[in-house]
Amino acid sequence: ATENIALITLFGAAGDLAHRKLYPSLFKLYQKGYLADHFALLGTSRREKSDEEFQALVADSIKDIKETKAGEAAAFAKHFFYQAHDVTKPEHYDVLKDRLAELDQQFVTKGNRLFYMSVAPQFFGVIAMNIKKQGLLTDEGYNRLIMEKPFGRDFASAKELNDELSQTFEENQIFRIDHYLGKEMVQNIQALRFGNTIIESLWNNRYIDNIQVTLSEKLGVEERAGYYDNSGALRDMVQNHIMQVVAQLAMEQPVSFTDSDVRVEKIKALRSLRVYTPSEAASNFVRGQYDAGADTPAYRDADGVPADSATETFVAAKLLFDNYRWSGVPFYVRTGKKLADKFTRIDVVFKKPLIDIFANPRMTSDQSLKSNVLTIYVEPESGFALRVNAKSTGQGFKTEPVDLKFLQSAAEKKEAPEPYERLFHDALEGNHTNFASWAEIAYSWKFVDVVRKLWDIEEPQFPNYAPGSMGPAASDELLARDGRAWIYKL
Ligand code: BG6
Repeated sequence: ATENIALITLFGAAGDLAHRKLYPSLFKLYQKGYLADHFALLGTSRREKSDEEFQALVADSIKDIKETKAGEAAAFAKHFFYQAHDVTKPEHYDVLKDRLAELDQQFVTKGNRLFYMSVAPQFFGVIAMNIKKQGLLTDEGYNRLIMEKPFGRDFASAKELNDELSQTFEENQIFRIDHYLGKEMVQNIQALRFGNTIIESLWNNRYIDNIQVTLSEKLGVEERAGYYDNSGALRDMVQNHIMQVVAQLAMEQPVSFTDSDVRVEKIKALRSLRVYTPSEAASNFVRGQYDAGADTPAYRDADGVPADSATETFVAAKLLFDNYRWSGVPFYVRTGKKLADKFTRIDVVFKKPLIDIFANPRMTSDQSLKSNVLTIYVEPESGFALRVNAKSTGQGFKTEPVDLKFLQSAAEKKEAPEPYERLFHDALEGNHTNFASWAEIAYSWKFVDVVRKLWDIEEPQFPNYAPGSMGPAASDELLARDGRAWIYKL
């Protein structure tokens, strides 16, 4: 591993994400040698804390990770420092500036600065502005910004935010996290497609009938009602994660596998996504909200959710791309809380053979061939399966579908880095492949905005699905109307 040299400033250092994901990811990178002597992290949040208290907090967050050598965790924690900070007070940035200068000297980080915003989104703009105004940028190494979602709540607010950020950072210095892009099997889409003649040559409207993307969650809104009720599934999952997955499925082959070439193609794909008129949106989108189950309260009865909440906890949609490759091929997507199970999968459904010679009436069977389906299992299992028709063993002639299947072993899965580890590493290396660019975000908001506006004015019939189901009946009808069905069903 090559050592990355960086001084990280983390806004939101006492937060849940930092504790659960960021410190453990950095520790893994440290264990593997991607981070070594020349890195330090200055954590900030509102509350006063000493460096030692902060180091103890970091040590606690990595206590379950096995050391590869004695004293490793303690040595790692020594790279962490803390400064109480109010993001809205310019003079507080002066203190940060001094501390960063000291740490840069102490750890010889060569002016490489990475600012990480893991705070409430209303502070993104003010932090970026003060980083510049108060002189926290260096002109020696690099200046980079990593930021968490959400990136706006519609196109207008996203643009406003982007305009603010771009006063301080150029597009190629901004890394917008979409943790779905850090998932092994989401990255694998590109390997599967562009590394295999037998897949990519069929990857178009001549051979593919439809594509289905399911991001299913078993949990409800839990403790996040404050955020979630203002967001809803459309903003929380569709605008970002689903759009990013869909873009990778729909994009053309990039000239090379570099971040700039991949971006060009993802942007083009999202640009060709048909933006619906309100009435098209009404017929191609389904929303849902979960009801009470035997042992779980309805969404509207969850802690912090208003009793008349019109927030959707489920979305299903039909997406269409207006380009040569995909004309006529629907992409069906769905996501929701309190569904049957926690999993993410993609089903690519191929067209059936034009003629089914086995359905010849003189033959004994009344069978018909099944569609070939390429399933990409993103989580909890990682792998893929190709469903093909084969002769079933025995006398006579019947066909049956069988799966050619590859699943990562438990050992491989354990070794695979978590999304945050990968994404942190990519940002340290300056690689944008697995981050969303502004143009991608802009196109996906423009697409989503039409639906959001429509839903904001029309009163929904909520609740409309039972916990443990796969969403409202209208989600099945969306496909049934086209003579199709979800491949994954209960
Ligand atoms: C987050 C959403 O972005 O993704 C959550 O805000 C959701 O509501 C989560 O639960 C799902 O991520 P994963 O990796 O568990 O599928």
